Amino acid sequence: MKLGKLLYTGKAKDIYKTDNPDEVIIRFRDDITAGDGEKHDKIPMKGYYNSIISAKFFEVLEAAGIKTHYITLVKPGYILARKLEMIPIEVIARNIATGSLTRRYPFKEGQEFKEPIIQMDYKSDEYGDPMLNDDIAVALGFTTMDELDKMRKITLKVNNILKGFLKERGLLLPDFKLEFGRYNSKILVGDEISPDTCRLWEMKTRKTLDKDLFRRGEGGVIDAYRIVASLILDDRDKKRWKLEDDLL
Ligand code: TMP
Ligand code: ASP
Repeated sequence: MKLGKLLYTGKAKDIYKTDNPDEVIIRFRDDITAGDGEKHDKIPMKGYYNSIISAKFFEVLEAAGIKTHYITLVKPGYILARKLEMIPIEVIARNIATGSLTRRYPFKEGQEFKEPIIQMDYKSDEYGDPMLNDDIAVALGFTTMDELDKMRKITLKVNNILKGFLKERGLLLPDFKLEFGRYNSKILVGDEISPDTCRLWEMKTRKTLDKDLFRRGEGGVIDAYRIVASLILDDRDKKRWKLEDDLL
């Protein structure tokens, strides 16, 4: 693996050029933030777990026919991906009411929805990720009605695939966030899919196994991420990615 020039640095990941102008390497750092970056810490091994969990989720999606930016996990911490022109929209799917939804609306915490809710937010720390509607997203020049429709449909498919995959492994998926980008003329799922960007609850106890532990100032973040990794990765993954047994 050859890391080229640093192209972009975000709150938890760095994007590097590669020899191929159409591909980038995403480095998952140990930084963790909340409140649009107001709260910040470093949690050793967080990048390791988020990269392998993301790689696994992207492979599950690709196997089910969803087009994503993922090419391969180069090694833990580093994903080779297609270089996308990112759309600054966070597409959130919700199956169970929690988080900002119960803070802003009279939903009951833990209430399960008959049909998933899709919500789109403008990805902007400066503006505090405000919720968008289709007209605002188009008027801002971010996207088109056609792309919005595609992102909504892909997110609903991703929700079904991940919910089913996680259910078999004893995990609930209350909600998650996707980001999309353009590659040639196609819309692909980009960014990461990890406990930083999903809510994951142990099915029986509804115990939190995601970044809410950090948002709420509770401990045990890395233990939770390790449990998620050990539940979703199989022996084949551990072998091909040379993951050490004592880390899972
Ligand atoms: P919310 O309930 O705080 O709006 O979060 C909804 C989902 O989106 C949750 O799974 C966490 C994820 N998320 C992000 O990935 N990035 C963010 O900046 C925020 C606020 C939430
Ligand atoms: N992504 C946001 C931040 O880094 C917050 C969050 O995920 O809760 O500040």
